[in-house]
Amino acid sequence: MKVLVIGAGSVAQLHLHSLLGMSEVSCCVFDIDVKKAKHLANASKIGFLESLTESSLSKFDAVFICSPTGLHLEHAKLAASQGCHLFIEKPLASELQGVEELIEIINSNNLITLVGCNLIFDPVIKKINELLKSGSLGRIFSAKAYFSHSLAQMRPGVELKDVYAFYRAQGGGVLLDCGSHELQYLSYMFGNVASFKGYVEKTGVYSSDIEDQALLLCKFTSGVIATVSLDFLNPCRSRGVEIVCEKGTVVWSQRGKPIRNELKLYQGNGQEQVIDLSNICNDGSSSFVGEAHHFINSVLQRKQTVQPVAKAAEILSLLLKMRDLEHAK
Ligand SMILES: NC(=O)c1ccc[n+]([C@@H]2O[C@H](COP(=O)([O-])OP(=O)(O)OC[C@H]3O[C@@H](n4cnc5c(N)ncnc54)[C@H](O)[C@@H]3O)[C@@H](O)[C@H]2O)c1
Repeated sequence: MKVLVIGAGSVAQLHLHSLLGMSEVSCCVFDIDVKKAKHLANASKIGFLESLTESSLSKFDAVFICSPTGLHLEHAKLAASQGCHLFIEKPLASELQGVEELIEIINSNNLITLVGCNLIFDPVIKKINELLKSGSLGRIFSAKAYFSHSLAQMRPGVELKDVYAFYRAQGGGVLLDCGSHELQYLSYMFGNVASFKGYVEKTGVYSSDIEDQALLLCKFTSGVIATVSLDFLNPCRSRGVEIVCEKGTVVWSQRGKPIRNELKLYQGNGQEQVIDLSNICNDGSSSFVGEAHHFINSVLQRKQTVQPVAKAAEILSLLLKMRDLEHAK
């Protein structure tokens, strides 16, 4: 299968690492910055494209869209119109306008699509899901999910003005850029969000038009209620969730760089059980490997994925409504 990776930045490198490990896949890369594409192509021993055109795209079976969020739709429509199956990094886009048109092209060309949701493939999230689905914890009541990290520290050596996440029009802000992960994995566990309330704010720490903190209260179709706390302010990165169930509580916390995961189960009798992650935890790249395999296998078997464009569009619509809370004071 011939795959073109569009964008040669940080996430493209993670996907290439996964794709290069698959014998059925051959890769090529394109970046608007030709030097960057050439450099990555040489380092990975693959080819690169000098320009992105309809005729160059028609030679590929699938594309991995790893460009800044504000460009996802443009790249997706161009590739889909040439019959390429689509992997699009999260979030699907920076706005809803144009998404319907993309879905029409996808449907008329019978394309397989996956919008980035690597946390669903993370071994720790998979372990939590297994525990919840086994029924051993009984009914699930509530969850407290969080992501917290300073935007200024997320990309060492890169000036904020050069980061797409610093600009609302490019799909920046903590809700679209990071909250999309939390909403994806919580919806995967508990069903769609049925209703929500909350606060979304710009603290003024950044001289930008993006929201940098949000505190949301969600009710899911399964009846589970959850708080989702997000910010771009914390110098010490953290991500995690605490899930309260009838017969126990699951606590996942992720801190530091390199990331350290901890998973604990507090049982009905109050006893704490630390779940051994030594066999399943590594540097975090396995979530990307699992995600890429899921997409490539889905294309080969012509099976729809866990998060096709139409489903990701619902999450994008939800995130954009949540972002509007900023004006509902
Ligand atoms: N799943 C995850 O955990 C995860 C992590 C990081 C980023 N992402 C997503 O991946 C996307 C890219 O993020 P990143 O961190 O790799 O950004 P990045 O800035 O490191 O890379 C983006 C690349 O796109 C290139 N580019 C810009 N305009 C282009 C154009 N017109 N055509 C082709 N290439 C163009 C840039 O030159 C750059 O090399 C974003 O949508 C982001 O939300 C997801």
